[in-house]
Amino acid sequence: MKIKGTGSVLPKKIVTNDMLSEFLDTSDQWIASRTGVRSRKVISDEKLEDMAVEAALLALEDAGMNAGNLDLIICSNVVNEYITPQLSCIIQGGIGASCPCMDINCACAGFLYALDIADSYNKAGKARNVLIVCAEEPTRMTDWTDRRTCVLFGDGAAAVVLGEGEGIKGISLSAASATDKLWQYRVLQPTPYITKEEHDVPLQMKGQDVFKFAVKAAGKDISKTLSDVGVRPDDVDWYLVHQANIRIIEAIQDYLEQPESKFPVNIYDHGNSSSSSCPILLDENRRKGLLREGDIVVLSAFGAGFVSGAAVIEM
Ligand code: UT7
Repeated sequence: MKIKGTGSVLPKKIVTNDMLSEFLDTSDQWIASRTGVRSRKVISDEKLEDMAVEAALLALEDAGMNAGNLDLIICSNVVNEYITPQLSCIIQGGIGASCPCMDINCACAGFLYALDIADSYNKAGKARNVLIVCAEEPTRMTDWTDRRTCVLFGDGAAAVVLGEGEGIKGISLSAASATDKLWQYRVLQPTPYITKEEHDVPLQMKGQDVFKFAVKAAGKDISKTLSDVGVRPDDVDWYLVHQANIRIIEAIQDYLEQPESKFPVNIYDHGNSSSSSCPILLDENRRKGLLREGDIVVLSAFGAGFVSGAAVIEM
């Protein structure tokens, strides 16, 4: 499969580190030096499903296709206002498609897992054109009095249309259960049979453990995928890595012994937008003209679970 079109939509509201310092015991200096983030786009009046539909329509337009051409829609999402129906069905209706659709929750690595599902459907002869939409609002998961988590995230939606061609060279995925490192708990409706006391718990994170996992997993995933497809790190034109922390990205550069110039970043003014992060970066740099036809691109993402994955694609 090959990437035929991309699109992304970000919330209007820009929240700077100084704005956070007005109600949190934090500073622009701390956040920027520890994470790279200077500002982030945060959902205010927008609805995530509208942003997802808009991103999907932009990607279809870019691909020169319409919703009727699609054989499958995959939506990567951790949380949104609906528990049911799934976001992919809302997107299907919003763009006027009629193909099967599914949601996946693979945290920040969702785009890589969706890419693998799309590729597998295609190889099985079940789908020629697939729409992947990553739509995330992690700012609705954190406790905004917790300076350790809420400063890290931003929201956004991004879509990729895949069609015929030899673009996807290889993908590898991994998972290692570590459920106490990055988690959120949601109370369901009470029933007459639930006797224990239950409480919602906003996003909790053991930051340093997640940091170590991310560096190790990304290095391993990228090296394995490159070696599987017989491409050397030096032969890669661009590394599009999940935008979680600029220090994680620098550690991956060091591990692969690759120059900073091959790693486009947008963490400075986006923050970590979970699974939307990689496809937003992909869309922005395609539209800027940085990623060109024939370029070899590595995508890599990691997140809660833990789950991670990497892909080697030719644009
Ligand atoms: O998509 C995957 C999701 N998550 C990640 O990728 C996150 C991975 N982890 C990280 O990016 C980093 O671990 C953080 C940015 C979350 C934290 O950076 P750190 O260098 O690991 O800091 P730390 O947790 O060791 O905290 C150092 C100090 C602590 O104070 P004490 O105990 O030394 O007095 C924290 O309370 O910094 C304090 N701190 C802050 N200070 C000002 C934590 N958050 C803040 C803050 N402003 N926002």
